[in-house]
Amino acid sequence: MHKDIKYELMSKEEIAAAVSRLAAQINKDFANEPVLALVILKGSMFFAADLIRELTMPVTLDFMKVSSYGSSSSSSGKVQLQLDTMLDLTGQNVLIIEDIIDSGNTLYKLKTLLCERNAKCVKLCTLLDKPDRRETPITADYTGKLIPNEFVVGYGLDFAERYRNLPYIGVLDEKVYS
Ligand code: IMP
Ligand code: MG
Repeated sequence: MHKDIKYELMSKEEIAAAVSRLAAQINKDFANEPVLALVILKGSMFFAADLIRELTMPVTLDFMKVSSYGSSSSSSGKVQLQLDTMLDLTGQNVLIIEDIIDSGNTLYKLKTLLCERNAKCVKLCTLLDKPDRRETPITADYTGKLIPNEFVVGYGLDFAERYRNLPYIGVLDEKVYS
């Protein structure tokens, strides 16, 4: 697995520091108001698990699944909602937890959908952001790290469902997908 990684982009230690910094910001902003954390499967599962355990307000938790990728390394532009939350969002502070924003198509569609459900607010927290790739006007409220336009895997992020279990985030060697 490690031999397919061109270089490490974010070490375990750097990830942990980013998670703590994001959690501190979120704790400060929500000032102990309850939060509904919507975890976007599957890529953000490790990030969400670490982040949510550092949140100090009352948190409820649910999962959503959106797919836009198939097994290629660039976005198809088509976004499909594969799993929705059954929770009532009315009046809730919703915090979307995502692994990475790339074209922004996934989050744009998801945020638009959630904003129609009468939440008090819909905030977005992403571990990684590739701003150079943006095709839609979406910005995260909380961002772990801005990264260059490279395909990354590990700490939940996959290529064709592999590499999620790498404990760090690395740039995948092009030879794997070209
Ligand atoms: P977007 O709709 O193009 O912003 O794509 C977002 C989704 O694509 C993310 O939630 C990831 O699942 C996937 N994705 C985008 N870039 C990468 C990457 O570098 N590695 C792994 N998955 C990625
Ligand atoms: Mg994802």
